Amino acid sequence: MSQHTVAQPRTVGLTAASPSGWWRDAVIYQVYPRSFADSNGDGMGDLEGIRTRLPHLKELGVDAVWLSPFYESPQADAGYDVADYRAVAPMFGSLLDADALIRDAHALGLRIIVDVVPNHVSDQHTWFRQAVQEGPGSPLRRRFHFRPGKGEDGELPPNDWESIFGGPAWSRVTEPDGTPGEWYLHLFAPEQPDLNWEHPAVDDEFRSILRFWLDMGIDGFRVDVAHGLVKAAGLPDIGTRDQLKLLGNDAMPFFDQDGVHEIYRGWRKVVAEYGDDRVLVAEAWTPTVERTALYVRPDELHQAFNFHYLSTYWDADELRDVIDGSLDAMRPVGAPTTWVLSNHDVTRHTTRFANPPGLGTQIGTEGDVRLGLRRARAATLLMLALPGSAYLFQGEELGLPDVVSLPDEVRQDPSFHRANGQDGFRDGCRVPLPWTVGGSSYGFGSGGSWLPQPEDWGGLSVEAQTGEPGSTLEFYRMALAIRHEHSALGAGESVEWLHAPAGVLAFCRIAEDGQRFVCTANTTKDPVSLPVYGQILLASETAGIRVSESQAVLPPDSTIWWTG
Ligand code: GLC
Repeated sequence: MSQHTVAQPRTVGLTAASPSGWWRDAVIYQVYPRSFADSNGDGMGDLEGIRTRLPHLKELGVDAVWLSPFYESPQADAGYDVADYRAVAPMFGSLLDADALIRDAHALGLRIIVDVVPNHVSDQHTWFRQAVQEGPGSPLRRRFHFRPGKGEDGELPPNDWESIFGGPAWSRVTEPDGTPGEWYLHLFAPEQPDLNWEHPAVDDEFRSILRFWLDMGIDGFRVDVAHGLVKAAGLPDIGTRDQLKLLGNDAMPFFDQDGVHEIYRGWRKVVAEYGDDRVLVAEAWTPTVERTALYVRPDELHQAFNFHYLSTYWDADELRDVIDGSLDAMRPVGAPTTWVLSNHDVTRHTTRFANPPGLGTQIGTEGDVRLGLRRARAATLLMLALPGSAYLFQGEELGLPDVVSLPDEVRQDPSFHRANGQDGFRDGCRVPLPWTVGGSSYGFGSGGSWLPQPEDWGGLSVEAQTGEPGSTLEFYRMALAIRHEHSALGAGESVEWLHAPAGVLAFCRIAEDGQRFVCTANTTKDPVSLPVYGQILLASETAGIRVSESQAVLPPDSTIWWTG
């Protein structure tokens, strides 16, 4: 591995000329409503459960909360199949509960971001039901991608596109007269028909939905499948099978089409009507970070998730490349870089790093649990030192691993079922949180939990870890408190790399007030010797740190924050 070059530190803190915006260096915590806290004992988390647990998030020290969908939905894809965008699913509560949650969060100084799902609706959405009922030729079908099938009797799908959840991306409807009829496109489950964004009614409807929630007082939207709304003209064949393997590397006719950007220019105008503080965050999986940067040009969305970072293993060379690449790509468009290690769609980073590299982001084996947690804490500390905004996924502050032992019959992830259990382990990161050492579902709720929790869950609970020196929860609390105090953490647009041995990252940042901050991360399995960079502010692992006058020993798989 190459040795990294020495660079002269320079000021990277916020300056008078730096653009402002709370979100630029915010730490945003993802709540997955099904699995956070259950107030009514039905085994399913809900909005009232989240409201009563807001003090946990305040104490943790995050700036904002992003809620995965809680809208009216038949739950074919855990709420990402929305039947009514202006209503709360009864299992999660009511609009009044949403209002109370937003108000209480604001009173605590926490912002609220909600999910908006514009690529597809539920097959139970009125538009789709009516489109099916009215039959071929109905203008309502033009709001979706209905096409006649190929083959003699139209028995073959209109093109060769495959669903992200496995199988063909087309399903055939039965026409009102009972005959097999047209096909409709669904990039995800058959219960999630894709909308046709060429149709003006679609655009009008979503601007109105944005306004509805902005009027409710929310602070922003996470835009689901932001890269999928526009499809290549003529819906051309791809020509190969196993298209999932191409995703992320190759250009696809259904993802990341240039036409999506016009939509977001329109959305930015809607959001701007409500002032400068409301934000739009893209879930955009693109082949390169440069393509991601296009979504956050000054007149489009404010932020985009950095999935290139999330997909990177705990490896110094790879991390440095993706950090530099991300900062370089975002700088010209003036958007802050974001960083994320876990979310509701991937195996938790504790479990990813417990396993060997090269397995991707969906892993079904537990691996070396202790090693995974150790690396996860180190990776988090590295992430929180980088300039830009950071996203946390509920439960990572407890060091939760993915639950890989779930029996097939309890799994609800459609990708698991559509791929015949071969692929997709998204239920493993969605197991309800443990709040207490004992009791029904470890404090999640009084009526059990929709996915079974492992028996050792109580030891990982908020109660078990609170006040426990060295616990992952106290470690996260401390890291976030320090991040709030030190402007060199999170702010700015670049890092200055320091000379470091193979497998180690070291970078420096200097705040406006001249305070120097250094982050060192050892991704190797051996201790390494480094210069002493000042006082230790925080370490992901204290055992094994040795500091003499000028040299420090950094334990394996660990990160240290220094100042002075
Ligand atoms: C996004 C969501 C994921 C969902 C999919 C379809 O990728 O994060 O959970 O299944 O969109 O809406």
